[in-house]
Amino acid sequence: MHVHNYEKLWLGASLLLIVGFISTIVYGAAGAGVTMVNDEGGHVNPNNLGNTSGFDDPGVTKIGPSEYEVHVAALRFAFQPGTIEVPANSTVTFYVTSRDVIHGFQIVGTNANTMVIPGEVSKITVNFDEPGEYGIVCHEYCGAGHHSMAAELLVKE
Ligand code: CUA
Repeated sequence: MHVHNYEKLWLGASLLLIVGFISTIVYGAAGAGVTMVNDEGGHVNPNNLGNTSGFDDPGVTKIGPSEYEVHVAALRFAFQPGTIEVPANSTVTFYVTSRDVIHGFQIVGTNANTMVIPGEVSKITVNFDEPGEYGIVCHEYCGAGHHSMAAELLVKE
């Protein structure tokens, strides 16, 4: 009986350890500010974005009373579109992919922050309650023009 109880104890302890490891990987890294790879938006052929729904004409699409989708294509050294405009009090889901190399996508002043990888679509949803202006920057070094790679997001009244 004692052996049996010990086995249970160890089983429980190792399960806790495993759960602990997983939370460290999932939450620890994110908490430390390391950008997580995000391909929740699915996969695309980076050489065929011109024929890929959403990325063939990047920009804002209204999908509900206060819900919007924004497709963004990153490339050396710009975001398409360069200006994004959505109304305040809206929920906006960004789908971001790259036409060439790995870029970053960060909406400064929000928690929207992801790597942008050719072939993968990063999906981020942000609520914008108040009007405002936000800078969008690339935070992954992508070449000579990296530091000037930016776009703007206007949240209108
Ligand atoms: Cu794109 Cu740095």
